[in-house]
Amino acid sequence: MNKKFLDLGYQPLANKYLKSYKRLSLKKGELFKLSVNFNTETKLVSLLKKIPDKKMFDGEYPYKSSMSKTMLNSFKKLSIKIKRKFKPKLFLEIGSNDGALIQNFSKDNVVCVEPCSNLAKITKKKGYTTFNDYWNLSLAKKIKSKLNNIDVIYSANTLTHINNLDDVFKSISYLLDKNGILIIEDPSFLECIKKVSYDQFYNEHLYVFSALAVKHLIKKYDLIIFDIENLSTHGGSLRYYIKKSNNKKFKVKKSVSIQLTKEIKFGLHKLSTYQKFGKSAAKSKHNLVRILKNLKKNDHKIIGYGATAKATTVLNYCGIDENIIDYFVDTTPDKINKFMPGKAIKIYKYNKKLLNHINYIFLGAWNFKDEIFKKERLFIKRGGKFITHVPYPRIL
Ligand code: TYD
Repeated sequence: MNKKFLDLGYQPLANKYLKSYKRLSLKKGELFKLSVNFNTETKLVSLLKKIPDKKMFDGEYPYKSSMSKTMLNSFKKLSIKIKRKFKPKLFLEIGSNDGALIQNFSKDNVVCVEPCSNLAKITKKKGYTTFNDYWNLSLAKKIKSKLNNIDVIYSANTLTHINNLDDVFKSISYLLDKNGILIIEDPSFLECIKKVSYDQFYNEHLYVFSALAVKHLIKKYDLIIFDIENLSTHGGSLRYYIKKSNNKKFKVKKSVSIQLTKEIKFGLHKLSTYQKFGKSAAKSKHNLVRILKNLKKNDHKIIGYGATAKATTVLNYCGIDENIIDYFVDTTPDKINKFMPGKAIKIYKYNKKLLNHINYIFLGAWNFKDEIFKKERLFIKRGGKFITHVPYPRIL
């Protein structure tokens, strides 16, 4: 049974950065109620109201995986491991974005699937076979008829964006070779709850997975998890290695029971744990607003660093506007000179000079804290402070 445990109020589409500021309207369908459910049987955490894919993933999707050194390094390491361990003859990536991972593979054995045409264009141009399409059974059939079975399917931070998870795993199971491997990685709900990072929820993140939920989800399609890795990316992610249940080539590793036990110990199988998280999010909101308002009372200028989709959830949930945060800085070309969705806060192209005379920066990209702190050594040295809400609101 689905039980609501978190209400993040009315939120805009998190990756629709506005060219000019305008107040968004509920009546015109520009704002959506963002509430989160826990399914007591399947253990799946999902948004109550799901936005149709086509509204979110189009020809103007701004997020590019290659924008972060952390992601590029993580993908490079992974590609070496995949080649060494699984030696794929045909490697397919669902949600290949701008090719941050597949650029580490030869053009001859890679298939990209990417619904956003601006991103699909990038991998096509580089010569990679790219299907500019949504992942579903009819696409899986099309790929099978052209290329036959695939032996490694990979997807990072994508499956949780797709409404019909049954169709997702059915299609994967259909296309995957009997000895094939599916690797998926997504933010870990255990990390999300530990860090009170309620901002992992925005309209695109229809689901946040726990290993408990993934295990249950894939069972129907004859798939089982045989290994799990903990990653630091996206605020703490899990990388699941999945195989068909009659594939004897890979043994189920201890890492699987270790993760499942950790999740049960934390209470991820119980509704009460989720209800507590809902209360912690409300407390986090209250404390963050208090910190920011105190700084403003003392005439401090505050800017934001990393115009993330996560920051959009924070701004709109906490009611933080241009009277509190003057502007955001970001390196992503498609976000520059636009406004944070739902707020009149402008995003400027990152330039160290924009940090001059600023003493307080709200860390929108808290998941890249280490990378950003390294880059901003001088800001910190001269007494500049970052503000974060993860795992609890504070000035660092
Ligand atoms: P990310 O946290 O991956 O995404 P989201 O919450 O939107 O899923 O996005 C990180 C953003 O932070 C991205 O827009 C790039 C930006 N960024 C910088 O501007 N400078 C940096 O040094 C880093 C690491 C990220």
